[in-house]
Amino acid sequence: MQLLKFFQPLGIILIFNIAFSDAVIFKFSNFVCKSHNESWFIFHNCRLKAVSRERILLNMNGTILYAAHSIQVHIKMWKRANGFKPFLLDSTVDACRFLKSSYDPFAKIVYNIFKDFSNINHTCPYVGPQIVTDFYLRPELLLLPFPSGEFLLSMQWYFYKKPQFDTNVTFIFMEDLLKRN
Ligand SMILES: *[C@@H]1O[C@H](CO)[C@@H](O)[C@H](O)[C@H]1NC(C)=O
Ligand SMILES: *[C@@H]1O[C@H](CO)[C@@H](O)[C@H](O)[C@H]1NC(C)=O
Ligand SMILES: *[C@@H]1O[C@H](CO)[C@@H](O)[C@H](O)[C@H]1NC(C)=O
Ligand SMILES: *[C@@H]1O[C@H](CO)[C@@H](O)[C@H](O)[C@H]1NC(C)=O
Repeated sequence: MQLLKFFQPLGIILIFNIAFSDAVIFKFSNFVCKSHNESWFIFHNCRLKAVSRERILLNMNGTILYAAHSIQVHIKMWKRANGFKPFLLDSTVDACRFLKSSYDPFAKIVYNIFKDFSNINHTCPYVGPQIVTDFYLRPELLLLPFPSGEFLLSMQWYFYKKPQFDTNVTFIFMEDLLKRN
């Protein structure tokens, strides 16, 4: 995978990040959901709620109206610098294959960060309520060296290769120099 190859020579920084994970701010800054086909996918709510300066909770409630046996997701990362610019990762993942075999290492990181907060953690098909409850970011699960900044993770979801909905989340990753001392 593109991203992991890029970071492999920096393995040492990975250990560094884990050791200092309590000196890191890793939190959501925005969340946007949009269905492109409300006869198949409906969003009831998508929102962030701040419970403290460091902890922002993400909640999502949607419904898949008919079973989907073929799901693809185009995941792309962006970093803010005069608007969001593409950053390292741009990949289309076969979600049904991934849920059986975790074949994509980057998707695995994203999935491990959120699966405990969601019922979206089984194999295909998918139908009915799709719920994410009080999901917050835990830096110890990031397992990648990350530059400080604001990032967008855009996820465009397809059923049978036809676009159905988007879930775009932005987050801030920042080493907290005050806490480290
Ligand atoms: C929208 O959803 C319906 C199922 O309710 C499906 O038959 C149709 O093909 C979908 N349209 C697109 C463009 O995916
Ligand atoms: C999701 O939204 C539906 C429709 O408004 C509602 O019936 C259901 O209780 C909600 N589920 C959760 C877990 O909030
Ligand atoms: C999915 O999440 C639910 C609720 O957190 C949990 O009870 C269940 O064991 C999980 N399933 C898998 C396959 O991880
Ligand atoms: C999600 O992000 C992608 C990439 O920037 C963009 O093309 C798409 O319109 C966004 N979707 C929403 C609902 O904002």
